[in-house]
Amino acid sequence: MITQKTIQKVFDAAKIEEVVGDFVNLKRRGVNLIGLCPFHDEKTPSFTVSPSKNLFKCFGCDKGGDPTRFIMEHEKLSFPESIRFLADKYQIEVEETTQTATEIHNKHVTDTLYIINDFAKSFYSKNLFETQEGKSIGLSYFKERGFREHIIKKFDLGYATDTKNEMTSAALKKNFNEEYLKKVGLTTQSNGDFFRNRVIFTIHNLSGKIVGFAGRTLSKDKKSPKYINTPETDIYSKRNVLYGLFFAKDQIRKLDECLLVEGYTDVISLHQGDITNVVATSGTALTEEQIRLIKRYTDNVLLIYDGDRAGVKAAMRGLDLVLQAGMNVRLVLLPDGHDPDSYLSEVGATSFSEFIKENAEDFVLFKTNVLLSETAKDPIGKTRAIKDIVSTLALIVDPIKRMMYIKQCSERFDISEAILNKETNTVIRDNIKKKKLKENLESPLPNEDEWIAPQKSESQKETIFEQNDSHQELAVIHVLFNYGTQIYDENTGKSVANHIIEEISPIIDLFDVSMYKRIILETIDMISNRQFDIQHFIGHQQEDIRALCITSLTEKYPYANWEAKGMYLQTQKMPNENYILDCDNALLRLKFKKARKIIADLEKYFKEGDLNDTESEEYILNVKVYQELLNRRNQMAQQLGSVTF
Ligand code: CTP
Ligand code: MN
Repeated sequence: MITQKTIQKVFDAAKIEEVVGDFVNLKRRGVNLIGLCPFHDEKTPSFTVSPSKNLFKCFGCDKGGDPTRFIMEHEKLSFPESIRFLADKYQIEVEETTQTATEIHNKHVTDTLYIINDFAKSFYSKNLFETQEGKSIGLSYFKERGFREHIIKKFDLGYATDTKNEMTSAALKKNFNEEYLKKVGLTTQSNGDFFRNRVIFTIHNLSGKIVGFAGRTLSKDKKSPKYINTPETDIYSKRNVLYGLFFAKDQIRKLDECLLVEGYTDVISLHQGDITNVVATSGTALTEEQIRLIKRYTDNVLLIYDGDRAGVKAAMRGLDLVLQAGMNVRLVLLPDGHDPDSYLSEVGATSFSEFIKENAEDFVLFKTNVLLSETAKDPIGKTRAIKDIVSTLALIVDPIKRMMYIKQCSERFDISEAILNKETNTVIRDNIKKKKLKENLESPLPNEDEWIAPQKSESQKETIFEQNDSHQELAVIHVLFNYGTQIYDENTGKSVANHIIEEISPIIDLFDVSMYKRIILETIDMISNRQFDIQHFIGHQQEDIRALCITSLTEKYPYANWEAKGMYLQTQKMPNENYILDCDNALLRLKFKKARKIIADLEKYFKEGDLNDTESEEYILNVKVYQELLNRRNQMAQQLGSVTF
């Protein structure tokens, strides 16, 4: 592991304008620099670099962060890899902590497995291009399918001959360890080759390392499976692999769309036709892990499937997960009996692309149509179909988008929009309840109105929590992030962060938004042994916290935004000089809201508790607290009135 000291050195040295400047042409605009965003296609620059904050932020696609984050996103590197990258740029020596024996061993094992796979790839490739059997059987098969040599090489296709253990003995001769050959799935328990008499497809991970192989039989024998895959190993897990992603990722990001097909050969054919933003699930239903991989590059998925029933069913199985991830899904069904590979070979790349463009359909509406056609005049079937579509509608994260779909489905099913809306909300509530039960979350259930009302706010989270104290909580977080290190009290030298924590700690359990609560708790933890350090949140491992932090630090018009939400602030001074007032205001508002909440709770307690023992200690204490709170609330109301409106 890289030492904390090295990481800190890199953080201190890396200047955002220099790091970004290596990749993006930046122009000065006021105190900031701007350029064309490298993460999405744009014609007018909305990508902003702030040297004073040492952050970048794109107001078009919302990506943002510190220099390390930029390298992680731009070069698709892990955190330690980016630190190394930057250390190299700034000529900082990378110190490593000494690893434990197990760590060294495990690293050594996986390194060795990759090396063995690399050897096997070269072996199978040599077979294909240089042996008589390989050329006459394997290579001629690929060529018959129309694969050209450059594409065969690019995808590391190969050939495994029909011998018992040719590959294994070649590997042993190279001094590879038998145990590891078995561990990586290339050699069977009985010391034979796992892949025999098959053409080989090499499977790469995101960074191009070889994690496994698939072998397709060329024999017509129905008994042997068409494909066999490397079994699950330390470096290969079918759930985590999208075939072709290594070759497709740049184009997926650029076009902001990922084409999803089923087969290895589909990916290869499309690449050959210069359609390169394509990956394959390898015949299984899409997994959550695979969706997460795609989501790193785009939110838009286009499924290209066989037009037959099986293809459609397979596609439907994947839909729910993709919708839940907040992604947009479209679908193209190819003419009966065709998969992407065969269709492209038949009509050529240009017609293929045109077909895709013309026939891509929104998947939710497509599902509606399928369900409708299945149940045409059957009322019971129709009820079941509505239930089915409602369960899908309930998964759409964006409320505005969901309303749009509800409207369209109501027309197609000829059922009132209000009913469909109500049904959907019931399912949403059930889903949330189930989820809450599962995760035992502390925040209360949002009520129905909060979910369905398509508020102006863009983010779904804000919509969910519209009715609670999330705005007030966020306002405090905003001050914390922006001014946490500033001095609040000149006499004592107390920082804004310390002041906020002092004020908020007593009501932390009343926070509605668990993410904000977590931020406060982590801040308490942080300042208990050192100063508030915004870097902790800028580089936070939890994505939503990181994103919130960057947005908060880079918001273009934070004040205008607050006003739109009914939060007027006195902004005669520049925000930077005004932060004490802002801090006081934000805290006051939050405490006011929370006080009202406790007061309401207590009033309920008094009302319902009229059978309670009014002499009890608890009752007497509550009365005292109640009176004190009423006083405080009134004071605060007065303060608020005089400060703001
Ligand atoms: N698959 C698999 N194991 C099988 C059959 C299929 O892993 N026994 C996976 C493979 O990833 C395959 C995909 O499912 O690429 C789609 O299967 P299929 O359409 O049958 O194969 P194609 O890729 O179209 O292969 P070909 O064109 O050579 O028939
Ligand atoms: Mn095929």
